[in-house]
Amino acid sequence: MQENFSLQPFNTFGVDVNAKYFTEVETIDQLKDAIRYSKEHHLSVLFLGGGSNILLTRDFDGLAIKLSLKGISEEDINENEVLVTAKSGENWHEFVLHSLEKNYGGLENLSLIPGNVGTSPMQNIGAYGTEIKDIFVSCTVLDLENLELKTFNLKDCHFGYRDSVFKQEGKGKYVILDVTFRLTKKNHHIKTEYGAIKTELENMGITDPTIQDVSKAVIHIRQSKLPDPKEIGNAGSFFKNPTIPLTQFEDLKQKFENIPGYPNGDMVKVPAGWLIEQCGWKGKQIGNAASHKLQALVIVNATGKATGKEIFDFSTEIIDSVKEKFGIELEREVNII
Ligand code: EPU
Repeated sequence: MQENFSLQPFNTFGVDVNAKYFTEVETIDQLKDAIRYSKEHHLSVLFLGGGSNILLTRDFDGLAIKLSLKGISEEDINENEVLVTAKSGENWHEFVLHSLEKNYGGLENLSLIPGNVGTSPMQNIGAYGTEIKDIFVSCTVLDLENLELKTFNLKDCHFGYRDSVFKQEGKGKYVILDVTFRLTKKNHHIKTEYGAIKTELENMGITDPTIQDVSKAVIHIRQSKLPDPKEIGNAGSFFKNPTIPLTQFEDLKQKFENIPGYPNGDMVKVPAGWLIEQCGWKGKQIGNAASHKLQALVIVNATGKATGKEIFDFSTEIIDSVKEKFGIELEREVNII
């Protein structure tokens, strides 16, 4: 247990705040001990995974627990499919690469997403036409109330766009310990419908892509427009893409004829990056916070010295101006602590 411990290395924004207490756990028993300690001492608890989806706006007056449970195991289920289980502290992209090395398909479109396996179900991570719900089988969690293990199957997780039971009714009640995915060993479902992938594969001169090729294409696309948190602090998309009623979209289309939208029933998903860019934020910096020059949806710690509060206030200004121009209320995707 460490006291007054800087969380700067544990959040991809690189924000420097202190936790009153900090500990790192590698086993379930260590995790249980840490939680018991927090209960005995009436400390609030902050669980840290990869730190890639949080914004720390102030010092944390409790016990921060870094989850570092490691290990990957697998179980054959039939000729074409395998169940692969990764513990929560495994780095997501390393897990994807591990699966690709074994030629297991299903994760390739989710290459290079920052963060750890254990946080992937929290917000049903997704990119380039795939979400983890497409390959998710179950996850083991620790119930924080009674310290018992519990299994959540696909239907228990209530996955939605950047959403799950763990952000709703289960919020703050469980710690995810491991996640099991159903991957293919052959007859892979190659998904290249997402526009940018096709173009990227064409540029690579590939017509009949393997899962490894799709992964490479996704990596190229991400590297070309998303900032690397190791170089410039960020937490990926800061806001969710808003979904608005078709009627509202049609009204907006009258005024802004180029507004992009992806219809889904009587709702339309509008890219937040476009809305933010139209309000003049793309590449704009205030103090130490900025909207990324290549993808307006990503807020960056431009100087490395931004405080969480500064980044939060910057995001509020973006929300206000999008609301004023388009009448759409953006919702933050990043967890604000
Ligand atoms: N756009 C702009 N200006 C911008 C950025 C985007 O006009 O600065 C518009 C363009 O019309 C573009 C459209 O937005 O065609 C979509 O952009 P992009 O393909 O970059 O995807 P996104 O909707 O902005 C989402 C996810 C990303 C994920 C990509 C690819 C959310 C909140 N974000 O972004 O996820 O990588 O799709 O699938 O759904 C993350 O969650 O951290 C993340 C990076």
